[in-house]
Amino acid sequence: MDLAILLSGRGSNFEAIHQAIVDKKLDARIVCVISNRPDARGIERARELGLSAHVFDHKKYPTRAAHEEDVLRVLAEAEPDFVVLAGYMRLLSPAFVAAFPRRILNIHPSLLPAFPGLDAQAQAVKYGVKISGCTVHFVDENLDAGPIIVQRAVPVHDDDTVDTLAARILEQEHIAYVEALVKLSRT
Ligand code: GRF
Repeated sequence: MDLAILLSGRGSNFEAIHQAIVDKKLDARIVCVISNRPDARGIERARELGLSAHVFDHKKYPTRAAHEEDVLRVLAEAEPDFVVLAGYMRLLSPAFVAAFPRRILNIHPSLLPAFPGLDAQAQAVKYGVKISGCTVHFVDENLDAGPIIVQRAVPVHDDDTVDTLAARILEQEHIAYVEALVKLSRT
C-alpha cells in the first residue's frame, strides 16, 4: 500500500505512521511527503529520513487551483493508493477530492461529528464534554466530514487545559492513524 503524506507542521502523525512501517506493524510505503509550509518540522524530518519531500508554499500561488495543480502533479507521479492528510491545514477543492474518491484520509482531534473545524480541543474544553478523542475519516467535499474509519476516545478531566487535553488526544491519534491504515491495507 503506497501512501502520500500531506502535512503543514509538526508531523507527529506522519512520524507515527513511518515508525509503524519501520516496526513492520503496517505494510506500506511512503511514496512522497508534501508540505505547504517550507518551515514545517514534518518536511524537515521527511528529508532526514530520505523520503521524497516536496514543498509547495501556498502563499506563492495566485489561486488555490494553481497550488493544487502542483500538488496533484507530484501525486500523479507518485501514484499513491491513499493520500494521508496529517495536519494539512489547507482545504481541498472539490476537484482535488474528486481526483481521489474514498482515497483521501484525514485525522481530526475530536469525536466527529462533534467539534469540526479549527481548535477542536479548545471547543471540547469550552463545551465541557467529559469524553473526547480523535477520528480518522475519509475526506469528502465537506469539512471534517466523510465516512469514519476509526475513532478513539479519551476522558476530559475537570482540570484539563487545552494543552493537556490535546496531548492526551495526540497519543491516541498516533495509534488511530496506524489502526485505520492497517484496516485499509487488509481490505
Ligand atoms: C493533529 O492534532 C491532527 O489531529 C490535526 O492537526 C494536528 C497535526 O499534528 N489535524 P501533527 O503535525 O501530526 O503532529
